[in-house]
Amino acid sequence: MNKELSKIITVMKLTYERDISIYDEAFIMNALERRCIVIGAINADQYCNFLEKNKNEADHFFGSLHITFSQFFRDSITFAALEQNVFHNIIAHKPEGSEIRIWSAGCSSGQEAYSIAMLLSEISEARGHQIRFRIFATDISKEALADGIAGVYDQHAVQNVKLKQLNKYFTKQGNTYTIIPELRQCVNFSTYDLLDPSTANPPESIYGDFDIVICCNVLIYYKPNLQQLIIKKLQQALSTFGYLVTDESEKMLVQNCAKVQNIEIPTTVFENKIGRGV
Ligand SMILES: C[S@@+](CC[C@H](N)C(=O)[O-])C[C@H]1O[C@@H](n2cnc3c(N)ncnc32)[C@H](O)[C@@H]1O
Repeated sequence: MNKELSKIITVMKLTYERDISIYDEAFIMNALERRCIVIGAINADQYCNFLEKNKNEADHFFGSLHITFSQFFRDSITFAALEQNVFHNIIAHKPEGSEIRIWSAGCSSGQEAYSIAMLLSEISEARGHQIRFRIFATDISKEALADGIAGVYDQHAVQNVKLKQLNKYFTKQGNTYTIIPELRQCVNFSTYDLLDPSTANPPESIYGDFDIVICCNVLIYYKPNLQQLIIKKLQQALSTFGYLVTDESEKMLVQNCAKVQNIEIPTTVFENKIGRGV
């Protein structure tokens, strides 16, 4: 570990009792560089001296390690694979009338969970009967979850949503778009820390056994041993024929740590290989 990194980790821990050593080193260094520019520090030493005396800056620094940016239908290839292939496979293999269970892990303000809810609602409609599904959307950020529960988004957030979906699943007021109650009730939001060693699944879901676990843009922020811990937890939460979905930036991590197989090369959707006798 380099000198700058170890210094900032020590200051955050000893002065502010915040453990940032869990994060990926390059990610911390990027945050440090950005904060140096903001406060005008010429090097890490100068920044750390400022940080030590300035609680406000510690809050900013800590905040810069908590990225909650999200978008509806963020990765178009992945959502296309879910829509055209994965959902239909799951429906075909589920016992008639049973519920499809989905976990959006690190859901931020719900954009990912609501994107899935829109697609499943459309599939229900196209098939002419109601497909039962429940989406458990979890995050450590209570603020992000509160926004998800409210389901109110600005124009920028909905830019990947098709006009047809925008008209059907949102109500528009001025420049804001609010998720309609029928879609809102398909998503169950709760606080859950993926690093919690005492639980295997979000307690709200009771028993896991998910047909899809989607965890995008979360692993990249953590250091390797914690990435592995999270990946193990996500895989264990899958049903035997379940699918794990990540972001492109996390594809290699998942391929290296989990017993999964990519369904199609350009996608970041993986089939569970545990319990399939493969
Ligand atoms: C960049 S956002 C990604 C949101 C969404 N998955 C997407 O790809 O658009 C990362 C989210 O992961 C959450 N997160 C980070 N560490 C977490 C942890 N240990 N447990 C649960 N959520 C976590 C953050 O609070 C944040 O909302």
